[in-house]
Amino acid sequence: MTASTLRVLVALTLVIALGGCTWLKRKAYDGFWGRESWQQPARVIEALGLSPGDRVADLGAGGGYFTFLLAEAVGPQGRVYAVDVDTGLLSYLDERIVGGEYENVQTVLADFDDPRIPGEGVDLIFTSNTYHHIEDRTAYFERARRYLGPGGRVAIVEFKKQDGLMSWLIGGHSTDPAEIDREMRAAGYDRVASHDFLERQSFQVFRAGR
Ligand SMILES: C[S@@+](CC[C@H](N)C(=O)[O-])C[C@H]1O[C@@H](n2cnc3c(N)ncnc32)[C@H](O)[C@@H]1O
Repeated sequence: MTASTLRVLVALTLVIALGGCTWLKRKAYDGFWGRESWQQPARVIEALGLSPGDRVADLGAGGGYFTFLLAEAVGPQGRVYAVDVDTGLLSYLDERIVGGEYENVQTVLADFDDPRIPGEGVDLIFTSNTYHHIEDRTAYFERARRYLGPGGRVAIVEFKKQDGLMSWLIGGHSTDPAEIDREMRAAGYDRVASHDFLERQSFQVFRAGR
């Protein structure tokens, strides 16, 4: 082991010991270095065309990177369900909700094969950098249709395969956009939009059909 590898390992161990696993996960999901520049969150939210009062599920909410932006977009009359399978991250989100102005956000503990979104049906299931985590996605999103209200949509932001350093960093955490389209069609959705302004991610929107 080289001295620099050892330094990285020691630093990582210290970070985990001092900050805890949830902290590290949250930072990893939110980005250590300026995610805004490549994520363009304001443009993503604008492209979703949400209206005040809409109900949205943020599937795989993680550290809430998009959750609170979605909450601002739907306003106090709207609702955002922050859905995740990780109880540590959900507790972190609960602290932000209780301590702040986000009364329209509710955390939801999902099963790995079922988002368990409460209520009468949402207008949008939004998911960012989570699609690759889901197993048997066609069956998952076929089942998830019951959580959508009339005309409900599913928006999927997902890393594309990368070259060079990014490929090493994100490893298998990506899905080919054509594969997403194929799987969503098989699950009974039609693609209604495909945005190409994100350099690292695909951004596709589907509506339940048939
Ligand atoms: C890479 S993070 C993305 C977090 C956030 N959406 C973002 O863009 O920063 C993936 C999240 O998906 C969650 N996750 C993984 N499998 C899931 C599943 N089957 N259902 C819901 N959430 C899941 C993980 O716990 C994690 O918080």
